[in-house]
Amino acid sequence: MNYLAKESRYDQLSYRRCGKSGLKLPEISLGLWQNFSDNDLFSNCRLMLRTAFDHGITHFDLANNYGPPPGSAEETFGRVMQKDFRPYRDEMIIATKAGYDMWPGPYGDFGSRKYLVASLDQSLQRMGIDYVDIFYHHRPDPETPLEETMMALDHIVKQGKALYAGISNYPASQSKAAIAILKELKTPFIIHQAKYSMFERWVEDELLGVLEDSGAGCIAFSPLAQGLLTDKYLNGIPANSRAGREHTSLRPDQLLPERIEKARILNKTAQNRGQSLAQMAIAWLLRDHRVTSVLIGSSTPHQLLNNLDALTNKQFTTDELNAIEGILAD
Ligand SMILES: NC(=O)c1ccc[n+]([C@@H]2O[C@H](COP(=O)([O-])OP(=O)(O)OC[C@H]3O[C@@H](n4cnc5c(N)ncnc54)[C@H](OP(=O)(O)O)[C@@H]3O)[C@@H](O)[C@H]2O)c1
Repeated sequence: MNYLAKESRYDQLSYRRCGKSGLKLPEISLGLWQNFSDNDLFSNCRLMLRTAFDHGITHFDLANNYGPPPGSAEETFGRVMQKDFRPYRDEMIIATKAGYDMWPGPYGDFGSRKYLVASLDQSLQRMGIDYVDIFYHHRPDPETPLEETMMALDHIVKQGKALYAGISNYPASQSKAAIAILKELKTPFIIHQAKYSMFERWVEDELLGVLEDSGAGCIAFSPLAQGLLTDKYLNGIPANSRAGREHTSLRPDQLLPERIEKARILNKTAQNRGQSLAQMAIAWLLRDHRVTSVLIGSSTPHQLLNNLDALTNKQFTTDELNAIEGILAD
């Protein structure tokens, strides 16, 4: 049966302006890094995407290399676009990226104009769309001149293949330099995608200030530290978890005992707020107006719905914030 998006889809979520741009993003966005590959059940992928959109998640984040194999998450998204989402394209913000190893030889990695332009063409083909809303350079390239990479982003936007440009994983000083070039080119640069969670707070030092000063937004990835900031690892490693499965980005040895212990204490704080730890971790990121959106992953529609409930309690008392700081600092 044809998919009909829920009429109530805009009733639950709020949308935040991305920096000083004209674009608003949902407070929670969905990323397809994991769980949308050729190895994953298509029916589950489709249901997660439908569930997200039905609840107001208008923003889907991809990259050329998401899979495995690389490219397969974009293909999965393309299948859902074809089957369900086509009539809703104008209600969606679809992002992709290039910057990591994608194809053999000297032109399939890092930040050359050659790589970025070719990669986006491939991504568009895999997703079966004419343009993406946001195209990111995925990581800094130590060898390609920054001007070349930024001019490639500018070119892509001026070609009409992306509406906005973004960067990801750039440290604060390099972000500043990149933004200065993009400003000169009048490229609509609006967003930085950075790893940010209770366990990973580097953006607080400088980056968030740089972005605010330049009128750009920040979208926080891996807000749950890939699952560590949930209750799932408090009593061991479940077989069907990211750390429990083989060949994922979370190895069991990354589950450091001190992290698990902190998660256990944070879990109690969350319970006192009437939230799950995952919900509190998401709400905590949204306490800062400079965070435009929290970019979650999920492996089931249930997780997704559970995480959306974070938005029913985004307020923190000073005591709660201090208690969290104390736990994280210990
Ligand atoms: N720009 C970059 O370099 C970069 C890098 C990484 C990620 N990203 C983006 O950020 C997105 C999110 O990253 P992420 O997947 O690491 O985010 P995350 O939200 O920190 O982790 C998601 C994982 O946590 C577990 N989880 C989620 N909700 C849960 C809940 N309520 N209860 C228990 N477990 C829960 C699930 O793992 P299980 O499989 O264990 O259920 C889920 O796949 C990616 O899809 C991608 O779009 C960008």
